[in-house]
Amino acid sequence: MLLVKQVSKVYEGKVAYRALTDIDLTIESGEFVGVMGPSGSGKTTLLNLIATIDEPTTGEITINGVNPHKLKKEQLAKFRRRELGFVFQDFNLLHTLTVEENIVLPMTLDGKSVKEMKQKAHDIAEKLGITGILNKRTYEISGGQAQRAAVARAMIHSPSLLLADEPTGNLDSKASGDVMEMLDAINRTERTTMMLVTHDPVSASYCHRVVFIRDGKFYSEIHRGSSRQAFFQKIIDTLSLLGGNGHDLSQVRV
Ligand SMILES: Nc1ncnc2c1ncn2[C@@H]1O[C@H](COP(=O)(O)OP(=O)(O)OP(=O)(O)O)[C@@H](O)[C@H]1O
Ligand SMILES: [Mg+2]
Repeated sequence: MLLVKQVSKVYEGKVAYRALTDIDLTIESGEFVGVMGPSGSGKTTLLNLIATIDEPTTGEITINGVNPHKLKKEQLAKFRRRELGFVFQDFNLLHTLTVEENIVLPMTLDGKSVKEMKQKAHDIAEKLGITGILNKRTYEISGGQAQRAAVARAMIHSPSLLLADEPTGNLDSKASGDVMEMLDAINRTERTTMMLVTHDPVSASYCHRVVFIRDGKFYSEIHRGSSRQAFFQKIIDTLSLLGGNGHDLSQVRV
């Protein structure tokens, strides 16, 4: 469903910087793929190109057969709203609003009635087990709850591809586990395709496959198989071969 073909990215500036070189990546529908690599290796750059936040310098990206970078502005806005969901490290919730208001925020652009939006928020909260916090404001909830609210918001339009950049980066191990369990459940029940950028080997071990990049280039990929514990170990091993500071072992939580 996602095809990244020979994608390179050069940031222009006083000194041009080549952040990605000839990246090829195919993600099948329903797959849950992790992207790891040292800091500065180009993970966020790759995610942003797929998210259409930025444009590749060369190469092509297609999502469900559509190259979003070729769409006109309005079509692109619609495409992003329908096909893509985003989750970031810092939750990006609006602080004056309740969790419920945050979750329905993307729907306010659809011209739906308040009743319809409330219903949808309750449905999704029920499914994701966060009904208890719907009426709370963002300062009244924990980081893990905030991130689960952000995931609910990202899922409101049932996107075909969910893109997450370090969603557990600000969370402790318990809250990280909660968020990863939630993503895993969504992937299994909704068949949502997922791409997760992370430094955390435990979070990455929830993926079906992890792709490693180094210095903007593909390095290797490993597949999960049946045991998450064994996969976790394989991830740690690959990270230590990879070098750099992509594997801050002080942060490892098993
Ligand atoms: N807008 C930009 N302009 C110029 N250079 C950039 C820009 N964004 C990123 N870079 C550079 O591109 C390289 C890759 O950055 P990127 O953010 O993709 O790394 P990353 O793998 O996500 O790192 P981290 O793990 O620290 O988040 C870095 O050297 C960074 O300094
Ligand atoms: Mg990054």
